[in-house]
Amino acid sequence: MTPQTLEAPANSAQRGLPLMARNPAVRAAIDSIVAELERAQSSITGARPADPARAAEAAAWLDRNRAVRGNSTFYPYVGDGFGNGPLVQLADGSVKWDMINGIGVHMFGHCDPRMVRAALEAGLSDLCQEGNLQFNADVLAVAELLVAEAARTSGIRHCFITNSGCMANESALKVCQQKTGGAPRIIAFADCFMGRSTTMSQIGDGPAYRQGVALNVLVDYMPFYDPALGQRSVDMAAWHLRQTIARYPKQHSCFVVEPVQGEGGFNTAPPEFFRTLMGICREAGIPVWADEVQSFGRTERMFHFEALGVGDLVDVVTIGKMSQVCACLMTPEMNPKPGLLSGTFSSSVSAYHVGLRALEIMRDGGYYGPSGRNATLHAAFREHAERLVKAHPACFPPVIDSHGRTQPALYGGTGGMMRLTPFGGDKDRIVKLLHAMFAEGVIAFYCGHGPYHIRFLAPVGVMEPTHMEPVFAIIASALRKVA
Ligand SMILES: Cc1ncc(COP(=O)(O)O)c(C=O)c1O
Repeated sequence: MTPQTLEAPANSAQRGLPLMARNPAVRAAIDSIVAELERAQSSITGARPADPARAAEAAAWLDRNRAVRGNSTFYPYVGDGFGNGPLVQLADGSVKWDMINGIGVHMFGHCDPRMVRAALEAGLSDLCQEGNLQFNADVLAVAELLVAEAARTSGIRHCFITNSGCMANESALKVCQQKTGGAPRIIAFADCFMGRSTTMSQIGDGPAYRQGVALNVLVDYMPFYDPALGQRSVDMAAWHLRQTIARYPKQHSCFVVEPVQGEGGFNTAPPEFFRTLMGICREAGIPVWADEVQSFGRTERMFHFEALGVGDLVDVVTIGKMSQVCACLMTPEMNPKPGLLSGTFSSSVSAYHVGLRALEIMRDGGYYGPSGRNATLHAAFREHAERLVKAHPACFPPVIDSHGRTQPALYGGTGGMMRLTPFGGDKDRIVKLLHAMFAEGVIAFYCGHGPYHIRFLAPVGVMEPTHMEPVFAIIASALRKVA
């Protein structure tokens, strides 16, 4: 991994650095901790198998997990709290390429010295949690950065910070409902995902997520873009949307859009699809809300609405994951009355400081644009995926979609959201492959609702295109074993 330089952050006071973290003696101590960390990390350079001497210790952790949490995890994963960029060390001593990152959270991978430094600085704060009644300057620094980035191409001017994507979404829904006088219905896309509260699990289009939940939310689902139909898909969705609005005039509080569907299968759509539908909602006075909790930071712009050129049509945006804190951002017209949005604490001080550092690096580090780091990493993924598919044709039969049609793409996504579809999208075989990959040293997950896909949320903050080589060598080896 490239060693990260030690640097003193500019404008410490404006960035909300705790007073003690600006003390020169303290800074020198932090420098030496970070230098020691970098020295230790340099021993981690690639995937390696578990250490037999730690097998009993790791097994005990997994038993304890089953006992205390009442279930087993998808993977036999307990981390060691150590790693080097995209590589993570587990409690069994193994090292693996982390291509899922806590489902998109650890964008700078593991033990990134810049993130560790930010967390150490945060540890010197007077607080552990920032509140909505009392807060320090770091809260304002994060909110200002997010608004400044969003405002470049949209009317977004305000930001309310939360500690989960789900709470950001709950806030967005309340804002939209208040704006529309408590309109009871919601327009959403088929296959969307929005979080785990009782309301969000009803809007999210997955039956398992709302099994046993008392249903009390009214949702009208729109078909998402279908690449096999092209413009016809845009026209059909527009027809569907107009029908829905005509059926329930003035009854919709919002149209919620995941600009890249995450759990639903890393589905993308062209700008004209969103512009057409958002335009219809704008005309009908229905607020448009972009749920970018999963896509935020990962595509060719920090906000994907900017990449799509639809910022002028967006009223509310929610973000999360890589930003460490989550947020509901809105235009002045959507700014709610006092009392609607609050909560005891908004997020931890370390989440604010690590999030701020991550956002600054993403903003200034050449990540965006058609030849930015996110796009370049995605191109390397596609190149390797293409080679893998060609070398293992039997593992990549045609993918049949829910209409019984053959889907053209065996890999896809955008930026740091990458998908690969072996075994015709069969879930059981994909899960088997994921476990084989895990055993050999690559951690990924799945997405989609049939066909299923292997999902990679690469640590775009620190992953280099050259890292795809060892990652794909492991995937190929696991594929041969499962096949
Ligand atoms: C699009 C989208 N919205 C909301 C959420 C919920 O975020 P959280 O799990 O942080 O509550 C997720 C989580 O995966 C998501 O992908």
